[in-house]
Amino acid sequence: MNIEEWEEYRHVEFGINTFITQMKESSLKKMVEHVCNTGGKRIRPIILLLSSEICSGSYRQSLDAALAIEMMHSASLIHDDLLDQGLVRRNLPSAPEKFGPSKALLCGDYLIAKCFEFISPYGERVVKDFGKAGMNMAEGEVLDLRIDKDNFDESNYFECIYKKTASLFAISASIGAYTGGADEFLVERFNFFGNSLGTAYQIVDDILEFLEVVEGKKSKFASETLPHMYIKNMSQEEAIQKSIDAVKLHVNAAKETLLTFKACPARDKLFHITDYITVDMIENI
Ligand code: IPE
Ligand code: IPE
Ligand code: MG
Repeated sequence: MNIEEWEEYRHVEFGINTFITQMKESSLKKMVEHVCNTGGKRIRPIILLLSSEICSGSYRQSLDAALAIEMMHSASLIHDDLLDQGLVRRNLPSAPEKFGPSKALLCGDYLIAKCFEFISPYGERVVKDFGKAGMNMAEGEVLDLRIDKDNFDESNYFECIYKKTASLFAISASIGAYTGGADEFLVERFNFFGNSLGTAYQIVDDILEFLEVVEGKKSKFASETLPHMYIKNMSQEEAIQKSIDAVKLHVNAAKETLLTFKACPARDKLFHITDYITVDMIENI
């Protein structure tokens, strides 16, 4: 399965392109183009569309919410590259590198504001969940700075990655389910699925960063990573294995939750994404 051939991927690409085309020519437009249209995997908006499909929603109902999620993600990458002094992202100069920190910061602000245009028609419940995830992401990035903590321990790490990464995956799934017409109980299970997958994904990203085998990204400062924490008390091999076990735990939780959803092609695609962005990435390390 090649995700770029999926109709959900095409819908997201079309939506992003339409948004950018409608912007008037300006340096902001060039920045938005650089940040939103240069090879992101589109995982979160695709999760949203697939979650909606499982609950019998159509992409027409859910696409704007999916675009809001992708914009929020793009903004968070710009701000993250300001914080980490990210130099390269997606094999290209990061936004701060290419445009300078001031303009990059404002591009992030613009995208966050744009999100609310896309998300507000979905009503108070969705807007509140969306805003809460945005607040979590900022709180997670603050934790990641490790300025208030002398001893950043495992529970701080998991709180940090839940907030900075998993919370957006969680609402991608749950907002998709909600817009598809799911009841509260089902929406909660989708949220749990997204949270488990997002947690596993960030641990994988951290393992690759720790091993210095990340492709297409480079930053001056690194976040605290799980193997780096474990290595204080064990060998490197054990630290990596223990981190992989943590990935598997969350991947299994995600898959067990997926199994409780209606069997359909959209669910098969979520199974595929779950492996593709986690265990498949660390298969050959
Ligand atoms: C990068 O997210 C930030 C992390 C949570 C590790 P993605 O890997 O989804 O970024 P793109 O959009 O595909 O580049
Ligand atoms: C994840 O943090 C970024 C956000 C969730 C905003 P990282 O710093 O670990 O992500 P990369 O490695 O720069 O993509
Ligand atoms: Mg970073």
